[in-house]
Amino acid sequence: MANVIVIGAQWGDEGKGKITDLLSRSADVVVRYQGGVNAGHTIVVEGNTFKLHLIPSGILYPDTECIIGSGTVIDPQVLITELDQIEKLNISTDNLFISETAHVTMPYHRLFDRAAEERRGNYKIGTTGRGIGPTYADKSERTGIRVLDLMDPQGLSEQLEWTINYKNVILEKLYNLPPLDPQVVIKEYLGYAERLRPHVVDSSLKIYDAIQHRRNILFEGAQGTLLDLDHGTYPYVTSSNPVAGGACVGTGLGPTAIDRVIGVAKAYTTRVGEGPFPTELEGEVGELLCARGAEFGTTTGRKRRCGWFDAVIGRYAVRINGMDCLAITKLDVLDDVEEIKVCVAYEIDGERCEHFPTGSRRFASCRPIYKTIPGWKQSTSDCRKLSDLPKQALDYLKFLAELMEVPIAIVSLGASRDQTIIVEDPIHGPKRALLHPDGTPVSTVNA
Ligand code: IMP
Repeated sequence: MANVIVIGAQWGDEGKGKITDLLSRSADVVVRYQGGVNAGHTIVVEGNTFKLHLIPSGILYPDTECIIGSGTVIDPQVLITELDQIEKLNISTDNLFISETAHVTMPYHRLFDRAAEERRGNYKIGTTGRGIGPTYADKSERTGIRVLDLMDPQGLSEQLEWTINYKNVILEKLYNLPPLDPQVVIKEYLGYAERLRPHVVDSSLKIYDAIQHRRNILFEGAQGTLLDLDHGTYPYVTSSNPVAGGACVGTGLGPTAIDRVIGVAKAYTTRVGEGPFPTELEGEVGELLCARGAEFGTTTGRKRRCGWFDAVIGRYAVRINGMDCLAITKLDVLDDVEEIKVCVAYEIDGERCEHFPTGSRRFASCRPIYKTIPGWKQSTSDCRKLSDLPKQALDYLKFLAELMEVPIAIVSLGASRDQTIIVEDPIHGPKRALLHPDGTPVSTVNA
């Protein structure tokens, strides 16, 4: 039995969807613990492609329970669209459970998000515009609407009447936007409530119960470490805690129940939205990575900024998350690159710096110090074990493991489930993997 957290080790979009999908096979319960419809992954089932933003992809396994935890923020309109899409494929959603204490994204949150971004001008964050920040802001300000409020028609009507009149002042006076009609919003959300009611539970109790029955739980992080509200590149971050610690707060589970943490990182780096990105590539190689890696956001369709692998933020992610092992994704995207660079440290004001600087101004002034490695210039997408990889590709992986001081357990070489090298079963296997931090291969290769 093992309870595992999967987190993004960079700025999100690391390919967590594929890794959690793979690991969901061994999980009895999959839990989302933070974020909202800013996240997204694409799923293909029997030729049908659809996008999920809130529902864990574990829903596709008939016996897996999926829980949207209390640390998430829920846009009911989007969630219902996802439920409809899944049910249309004759896949049951009976196993989907929604925390009654998760906060709800309201129409004014989406309006505030977009209007505030416009006002920020050059200081904009580049949000997804889905109302995430304002929903979490209301949670902190203690004016939020929770799922359990939706379940009480009388209480919700009173609460929303007051809240919307209050929010209308900001809409009209600050943003010059037309006010919302409280009655229209109340009617809309009461309709959503009835559709969601059968799924609403005390999720902390449900998770605790699963643990007592020795079931395997997979905690699925959205976004990534560098987008964490407390530990990311503030203010260019999201408004929740994608780091492993967020899984406990966002589910109501104590840290002693967690067995291991799996980090997911791309073989290079991407970032969407604004904010410093030391290894960003603006020329031909950046375009090549973007095209080969299909680097366009699932939620907004925005082109992702691409750059070399940054081992400084990688080491930081290992530290902040207490990462046990790593899944490296999209190695195949580097197949055609002549020479690959890896950022091993930064130069700040003429001095070498090995650690991630927490201040955003200091981070913006970092110049990457690169080590250049020869590319392998051949396809890796059909490799199924480490020994199939070209020597330079294997050397590249060893170098990353050595720099980040964490073993690599999974290597992904394409979107499909079989384009994967499983070095160790990260859920049931021992807390070690094929590539040791010092880069020494272990004799159990390809087991
Ligand atoms: P928000 O979460 O919509 O408030 O956006 C804040 C920042 O996080 C922006 O830079 C977004 O581009 C980024 N962001 C939010 N969700 C994701 C994601 O799932 N992948 C990558 N970036 C994201």
